[in-house]
Amino acid sequence: MATASELLSAIDDLGADRTRGGFSRHVLDRAEQELREWFTEQARLRGLQVTTDANANLWAWWGEPGPDAVVTGSHLDSVPGGGAFDGPLGVVSALAALDLLRARGFTPRRPLAVVVFAEEEGGRFGVPCLGSRLLTGTIDPDRARALRDPDGVSFAEAMRSAGMEPERAGRDDAALERIGRFVELHVEQGRGLIDLQRPVGVASSILSHGRWRFRITGQGNHAGATPMGDRRDPMLPSSRLVLAARDAARDVDGARATVGRLVPNPGGTNVVASSVDMWLDARSPADAATRGLVAELSGLAEKYAAEEGCRVEISEESYADTAHFDAGLREELATLLGDAPVLPTGAGHDAGILAAHTPAAMLFVRNPTGVSHAPQEHAEPEDCEAGVTALARTLEHLAGG
Ligand code: GLV
Ligand code: MN
Ligand code: MN
Ligand code: MN
Repeated sequence: MATASELLSAIDDLGADRTRGGFSRHVLDRAEQELREWFTEQARLRGLQVTTDANANLWAWWGEPGPDAVVTGSHLDSVPGGGAFDGPLGVVSALAALDLLRARGFTPRRPLAVVVFAEEEGGRFGVPCLGSRLLTGTIDPDRARALRDPDGVSFAEAMRSAGMEPERAGRDDAALERIGRFVELHVEQGRGLIDLQRPVGVASSILSHGRWRFRITGQGNHAGATPMGDRRDPMLPSSRLVLAARDAARDVDGARATVGRLVPNPGGTNVVASSVDMWLDARSPADAATRGLVAELSGLAEKYAAEEGCRVEISEESYADTAHFDAGLREELATLLGDAPVLPTGAGHDAGILAAHTPAAMLFVRNPTGVSHAPQEHAEPEDCEAGVTALARTLEHLAGG
């Protein structure tokens, strides 16, 4: 029997980012593969049957895989320089919850599985929740196979190097039909539980959200030899757009707009950039508001680019409509867990993708810093244990009843 915190300590060297701080664990890179191996070993030690599906997701079954299964899990990949909890906490808590159930002599009446989804953060190939989107048919497998990481390696090539068969990727009806209910435990990404002074909560909904790439092209040139009036510098419209995103989001109720990645090409101190790639992450409680925000920023990008003699190409890399978790399941869990608070979140999750296909729910564990996607993300060991206890209670209720 191990606690969630002990299991997290066992992996705190894998993918530790000595340059940026925190962890950089990207799907099918060395660190994420080591984490997969670690998970497989832990699952086998617990007598679980481990398989990798056609979409690079890992499954560990307690008993035979079968219909109406209760599935729990999360992901092991991270954002660049991310925290230790976003993803892994849900995976280790699943293992710890199974340990608790075993110790109590519980035998599931329905199949029970732990899943590790691939590329939840989209940190390598750009599309978040890639494994669950493929599983549910939410992304065209041809498009997924052709996605490339910053080094030019395609998702298909990465799968093949990891011994997987990319040609099999795509909607997996057999796997989908087996999932009776899905529950993802996750560190909270916000301050809701701090304010409520509660260790564990239940999710109500996820903001609609997406990612758009703006490629602004000008004319590369010499920083010293090119007079200020004779430039087509794509950094200028890009910079205006960063500010415009902040201002536009402030005007929409509950909206967020972020430019967290901006890459000038070729990226020399004494070079006027020839092009800039910048990624907009936009979210809001309503699909129409998110779409409206992006339309407004797209119009401004055209205008700012034209004013500097540049041009802009905009492509949508991913989108997910507002996800509402199954109301019956979430109320059932809130009651089961002693009137646990029910809260919305601005962060995307595989549970949000699955919610369109199967009853899904999420449990949140308090994060005392309120910070996530950064090394300061945290959960105290006693709150992690409260999370494991809540998850075990949930699994016992759903798989035993
Ligand atoms: C992933 O955590 C996201 O919400 O972007
Ligand atoms: Mn995340
Ligand atoms: Mn996550
Ligand atoms: Mn997420």
